[in-house]
Amino acid sequence: MKTKRSAALALLAALCLFCQSAAAAASFSRPLFRGASAAWVESFKPFQDWMRTSEGRELTTSLAPKLSYLQTIDLADSAGAAALAPMASRLPEALQTRLAAPESLSSQERAELFNELARARKAAASEVEAKAAQAFAELAEAGDAAAPEDVLALQKQLKALSLYSAEVGRRYKAVRRMATERAMRNADAAASRLLSDWRLPEAMPSDGNGVAPDWSAPDDPYKIRLRLALPAPRFYDNRHWSPDLVPDWGYAARLDAAAHLLGTEEKAASPEAGAAMNAKGELLATLKSADPRTHSHAIRVGLLAGLIAWKMGLPVDFALKTSWGGRLHDMGKREAEVQAVIQKPGKLTPEERLVMEQHTILGEGIIASARKLDGVTRRTGRRVALNHHETFDGQGYPQARFAHDIPLEARITHLADYYDALMEHRPYRAGMSSAEALKIMEGQKARFDPAAWKAFRALLSEGLGETPPAPALP
Ligand SMILES: [Fe+2]
Ligand SMILES: [Fe+2]
Repeated sequence: MKTKRSAALALLAALCLFCQSAAAAASFSRPLFRGASAAWVESFKPFQDWMRTSEGRELTTSLAPKLSYLQTIDLADSAGAAALAPMASRLPEALQTRLAAPESLSSQERAELFNELARARKAAASEVEAKAAQAFAELAEAGDAAAPEDVLALQKQLKALSLYSAEVGRRYKAVRRMATERAMRNADAAASRLLSDWRLPEAMPSDGNGVAPDWSAPDDPYKIRLRLALPAPRFYDNRHWSPDLVPDWGYAARLDAAAHLLGTEEKAASPEAGAAMNAKGELLATLKSADPRTHSHAIRVGLLAGLIAWKMGLPVDFALKTSWGGRLHDMGKREAEVQAVIQKPGKLTPEERLVMEQHTILGEGIIASARKLDGVTRRTGRRVALNHHETFDGQGYPQARFAHDIPLEARITHLADYYDALMEHRPYRAGMSSAEALKIMEGQKARFDPAAWKAFRALLSEGLGETPPAPALP
């Protein structure tokens, strides 16, 4: 009898535990607040626009600086409308007409309006903090069981709700960190899988005859093979490593792995970084229109540099910024005087060589003046553009810097740049296989950073270093 009762109690306890965890999962994945009414959202929109005018900014700064965060909320988004709710519920209805036409108010009415908003914000803060704390605790309890889209939704809500207090802002950052760490763990697992499981032939079989595969044909057998063998999803356009640009399949696979990893990381680190991404894309597009071949080379170098940094065990932020620095390394080549020299067939004269070497300095200038770029990308891009032809043994240009005096991002990019230059087809020779390129690089080892070299060698020897049979066609 006693055993029966304790078994029943244990069952009840297990059920309760199950109920608790189900409730936890459901609670943090639910919106923290129901959206403000359509009328409030509509009247806040013109106020938000007005806040962005110079007069609006000035008054916000002098009257209620903490409200300036209101400008950043996207009211067209459900998380934005929900973030407005705690404040709107504490405001008198009559305020809607004032909010909708702030420019027509007298200075006294404006001051009153700001006071009302500031009061409502302050009054709502503790409720918002309490809900944020609860959701955060439940998310922490759910751990890896939490669905990524729920974590992202909570992150978005907390970001908008940061309007209410610094504490909510800290919760938002903690959730973002959690999401990034989780994505890193997943991407790490994906990386080891990719680098150990995917086995591709080192070279295109038909390339020796000088017959380039038709990469644009949808049913090209090599393309089908590559598509089958490479993982999805793709975040980058893999035409930059198609066989008509680089013949080595192993290299293509590594680049795809890099695109997969870095793209996943980038999405996790800053899901809303649309404007920052556009600025980088716009800058790269100017290189593409001047010189598509160098543009493709730059994309590949950036991805490989990011992968090497990753393999060196550097923090993921560092791998991401190195990858962008690498993509911008040859920006100077878009300039007309450099183009005139590099497009010229045949060997360069010493004077032409000097012009070509200027692409490092020109590139640094181009990136420095790209005002729309985010700070990290601009700083890294400048460093890499200027220093990517410096060599570890001090024999490089433009400043002949030596060893650790050269920024690490540039040392890594130099290695990726050198390898890619050997791997790609040139008008005067075919692109090499990985083994051929490595043989040449071994003889030049003094120019590479030893740690980057070690990581690079490990990258090539793991999983993709051999020449296994081609995957079967369907
Ligand atoms: Fe270069
Ligand atoms: Fe380059």
